[in-house]
Amino acid sequence: MALDRPFGDNPDMARDRVVTTTERPGQEDVANHALRPQRLDEYIGQGELVERLRIALDAGRARGEPMEHVLLHGPPGLGKTTLAHIIASEMGSRAYVTSGPALTKAADLIGTLTKMQVRDVLFIDEIHRLPAAVEEYIYPAMEDFKVDFTVDSGMHAKVVSIRLKPFTLIGATTRAGLLTNPLRSRFGIAHHLEFYEQPELVSIIDRASRMLAMRALDPVVTEAIAARSRGTPRVALRLLRRVRDFAQVRAAGRLDADVVDAALKLEGVDRLGLDELDRKYLRTIQTTYEGGPVGLEAIAATMGDDGDTLEDVIEPYLLRIGFVSRTRQGRKLTAQAADYLANR
Ligand code: ADE
Repeated sequence: MALDRPFGDNPDMARDRVVTTTERPGQEDVANHALRPQRLDEYIGQGELVERLRIALDAGRARGEPMEHVLLHGPPGLGKTTLAHIIASEMGSRAYVTSGPALTKAADLIGTLTKMQVRDVLFIDEIHRLPAAVEEYIYPAMEDFKVDFTVDSGMHAKVVSIRLKPFTLIGATTRAGLLTNPLRSRFGIAHHLEFYEQPELVSIIDRASRMLAMRALDPVVTEAIAARSRGTPRVALRLLRRVRDFAQVRAAGRLDADVVDAALKLEGVDRLGLDELDRKYLRTIQTTYEGGPVGLEAIAATMGDDGDTLEDVIEPYLLRIGFVSRTRQGRKLTAQAADYLANR
C-alpha cells in the first residue's frame, strides 16, 4: 500500500497523452512536484478557494487547532494535491498522501492515522472510491479524532477505541456526486475547482519557466502554451517542458511561436489543446451517432475506452469550450465542434 508517498498516483487512469490531466508516476511527477508552489501566497488562481483556505488556516492557527477537513472536487490536474501539500506546509506539518482505491483494508488507514502527529494532513485522492468497510472508520476519525475497532469475536468481542492526534483530512474527487452523504457532511469546507483562465495560466507558465532557469519567455510563447493547456496547470507545465526540449534539440535554443507550434504538433496537440483522443471522442459522436444525442456508455464502447475516464478526463474541457452538451437523452455535438472537425 502506497501511503506516505510525496505525490498521489493513479495507475488506472494513467494515459500516455501529452495533454493528460491525470498524474503520471515517475520522472515527470518529480519534475512537476519541484515546480509546485509551497505557500498559499505563491498559488495562482482559484481565488475564492484560496481565500476560504486562508481564513480557515488563520482561524485554526489562532485557536491552536488544525484546519477543518476539506473536500476538493473538480477535474484532474487543477491543483488538488498541490493544495494539500500547501496546507500542510502552512500548518508546519506533513502531508500523508494516499487514494481511495489504495486503501483496501481498514488496517492501512488505521496504521497511518495512528502515526500522524498533531496538524498533519491526510490527503485521500479519489475519495469516492474508498471501500465502504474503510469509510466507516473515517467517520469517528474525522469527527472525534478516534478510531473504534472490534477485537476478538462472539461473546469475547470488545470495542477498542484509539485516540488520534487532531489532523486535517483533505479529500479529493472528480465525482462529488458519488460521495456518500455521511462522508460529504463531515467536511467543514467543500469547494469545486474551476478551470484556470488564460492570464492565470500565463502566470503559472512564467513562474515555472523561471524555476526551470529558462531564458525569459516571449509573451507570444507563453500565450501560445497557455492557450493549449485546457485550463489546466498540470497540462501547461507538461507542454512547457515539451516545448523546452524541442527548442533545445531541434531549434538551437530558439523559442518562438513557430517552435511552440512545431513542438506541439509533433505531440498531436492542436491550437485548442485538443489531442487525438479528444478528436476521436468528437468524431465518434459525429460519425457513429450522427452528432448525438448518445449515451456515454455507447460512446465508450465504440471507442474501446472506459466511460469513467471519458467523463472525468475528456468531457469536462469539451463541455467547458462548448463542443459538447449533455442532455437528458445523452451527449450532443455542438455546431462549434462540427465546424472545428470540418476545418481540421
Ligand atoms: N504550478 C502549478 N499550479 C500552480 C498554481 N496554481 N500556482 C502557481 N504555480 C503552480
